[in-house]
Amino acid sequence: MIEIVARSEAMREAVRLAERVAGTNANVLVTGESGVGKDALAFYIHSQSTRAAQSFVKIDCATLPSGLLEAELFGYERGAFTGASEEKPGRLEASHRGTLVLDEIAYMSVDSQAKLLRVIETREFERLGGRRTIKVDARLMALTNVDLAEAVKRQHFREDLYYRLNVVHIPVPPLRERREDLPALAQGFVKSYAAKHGRQLSALSPAALSLLTEYDFPGNVRELANTIERAVIVATGKRIDVGDLPESIRAAVSVRRRRVQPLSLAEIEGEYIEEVLGLTKGNKTEAARILGISRKNLYEKLARRSKDEGGRMNDVGEG
Ligand SMILES: Nc1ncnc2c1ncn2[C@@H]1O[C@H](COP(=O)(O)OP(=O)(O)O)[C@@H](O)[C@H]1O
Ligand SMILES: [Mg+2]
Repeated sequence: MIEIVARSEAMREAVRLAERVAGTNANVLVTGESGVGKDALAFYIHSQSTRAAQSFVKIDCATLPSGLLEAELFGYERGAFTGASEEKPGRLEASHRGTLVLDEIAYMSVDSQAKLLRVIETREFERLGGRRTIKVDARLMALTNVDLAEAVKRQHFREDLYYRLNVVHIPVPPLRERREDLPALAQGFVKSYAAKHGRQLSALSPAALSLLTEYDFPGNVRELANTIERAVIVATGKRIDVGDLPESIRAAVSVRRRRVQPLSLAEIEGEYIEEVLGLTKGNKTEAARILGISRKNLYEKLARRSKDEGGRMNDVGEG
């Protein structure tokens, strides 16, 4: 079973829609930026549907050139084209009674779109080079990170196919528009990657979590997952700390913080000290050497900083 994290209202709405549509045979269009969880949601719908015990078949329209895509989708008979030395059933046949996911549907050529439309309307097709008509009962889910309505306007996408696929539309918002989901997602990834890599980590420090919550994640949940996996691998402490997160994320967030509220010199000093401590993996002797101050002085500065109520780093996203 797959668990979809949905703490934000936007994601809860998407999951509610998914659950309502799961019990029907309606075609579903799932849209959203790359990495938001379209595949995950499609599989969730399948797993909640009456087709759950049947196959869940996926075809990626973005990576296959048109000819190959049709061969994969419809299958072919022996001798259908050069190289077709054996007959091969396609993914449509494989998805009979189950679910067929058309990933990145916007990349399908207009020719292939016409052939797909015919399958939807007649529930029949022939393999390439074949004459036998095959009946198929598949629930279709189309995924895209492209605005399909816009593609229709520009005549890159058939309008009739668009309406056939878009019976129920589930938009999945980018992670930056539903930051409430981030702590639970991050926590789940820490657990699963710690298990995968045999690490005794179970949490993120509040500062690390608040840093992540302030970052925009252009790569959405996939980028968060990769970030956490990397952090789990490099972390030396019992929890993931700011220093275990990529420099690019720390830099982006500190620019953002500075823009929101300019820092005092003491705050800049404090953040710089944390950065250096990150570099030295918490080694204070080494950090003091880099900073050009004594170890004693470094300890005093750290003590002052933590007395100032952990500074701004702990303001957000305790959890
Ligand atoms: N709401 C969620 N809860 C748990 N895991 C998620 C969620 N959304 C995405 N993921 C995970 O994030 C990664 C990227 O999601 P994916 O479905 O492949 O995105 P997309 O198809 O939109 O590019 C996958 O590992 C997926 O399991
Ligand atoms: Mg995907």
